[in-house]
Amino acid sequence: MSSRTRQEERASTKIRLPSDRDAGPFMTSTAPPLALRVRLWRNRLLASPAFRAMIARIPLLRRVANGKANALFRLTGGFIFSQVLLAGVRLGLYEILADGPLSTGQLATHLGMPPERMRVLLRANADLRLLIEHAPDLWVLNDAGVILATDRGLSGMIRHHDMLYRDLMEPEPLLRGLKTDTELRRYWAYVREPRPDGLAAEEVADYSILMRDSQAMMADCILASHDFGRVRVLLDVGGGEGAFLAAAAFAHPDLQLRLFDLPAVAQRAASHLETLGLAGRARVHGGDFSRDRLPDDADCVTLIRVLCDHDDARVAVILANLHHSLRPGTRLVVAEAMSGPSEGARLGAAYFGIYFLALGAGRCRSDRDIMTLLAAAGFSAIRCVPSPNPLIATLVTALR
Ligand SMILES: C[S@@+](CC[C@H](N)C(=O)[O-])C[C@H]1O[C@@H](n2cnc3c(N)ncnc32)[C@H](O)[C@@H]1O
Repeated sequence: MSSRTRQEERASTKIRLPSDRDAGPFMTSTAPPLALRVRLWRNRLLASPAFRAMIARIPLLRRVANGKANALFRLTGGFIFSQVLLAGVRLGLYEILADGPLSTGQLATHLGMPPERMRVLLRANADLRLLIEHAPDLWVLNDAGVILATDRGLSGMIRHHDMLYRDLMEPEPLLRGLKTDTELRRYWAYVREPRPDGLAAEEVADYSILMRDSQAMMADCILASHDFGRVRVLLDVGGGEGAFLAAAAFAHPDLQLRLFDLPAVAQRAASHLETLGLAGRARVHGGDFSRDRLPDDADCVTLIRVLCDHDDARVAVILANLHHSLRPGTRLVVAEAMSGPSEGARLGAAYFGIYFLALGAGRCRSDRDIMTLLAAAGFSAIRCVPSPNPLIATLVTALR
């Protein structure tokens, strides 16, 4: 028997229709649904090297197959591509090119790298469409490179991934629940502390800066999805350094601002809002949003990237405290990345699913999950509001 025939035989014995199996979820008297039977038939075909060789000979099908192979390779090589990105961010490559094109030699001198190694990094960046080689050895930013050069939040997120890389170095113990002491958990200090309101300034500084810097895209998304024009007093619960409040305040000059966060973060928020000239419109409160009473003079309350960090039981406590503290008629706006059918939502869910596993708390919920939690806490008129970019956020609004 040739090795190819053996391979084919192995493939066809591995993927079988459910009806071929001895046991399984569909091994009842009813046949599996048609869509599943078709999928399994298709999988069995694809598992056959002879079938794939046949596809490769038909131009139109070959294009489809090559597209799928490229997508799979993007995942296979994803780690390398991420490191190319990390190196570019850490070296300041995108920032330095923001002022205009530079040659390989100039970049090598600026970034302290041998020219031939510099060229390898530059070529990888061009192949990943972050840079363009405008003329031989002359480099200019591509669209994504411009965003990397100018969005501090994005480069901050990429830098903070170095912890996550290390946490994911051995993914199986993490997935099995055998590894719980992760770097990410130490970074997000409030997740590991039973009394997070006692956290010291230095324990909240790094994540607060990251949240402030990465708020811009989030704020654009939220302000484009929900009309804050008629809001008189806006309270941002878990509002970090007040970056969202500031964006809302600049968009709506009459808006009064309230912020509630852990005492050490609230201090940072007070000085940040003061630096922006917003202190006169703002009152900042420090405390624990799961147990302390929240200010009740707001007619709208936002919870941005807050619920996702916590398990369902804790979310229930947080929402119960909000419900208890707020006046009837207060509008609540929950905004964070939520799972859903769009490509952006799926990417976000795949990313955050693993992220929260490493964090050891929280999960990426669907809009339905959030709605269910809000309803259980007693909120009414609950609605999902799509945003312009579901990769960044989806909104769910409700009334106290
Ligand atoms: C992921 S950050 C989001 C910050 C901000 N909403 C944003 O989107 O940039 C979560 C915020 O919740 C705050 N937080 C966590 N636990 C808290 C608690 N028990 N009471 C008050 N604030 C808390 C953190 O300090 C942090 O600022």
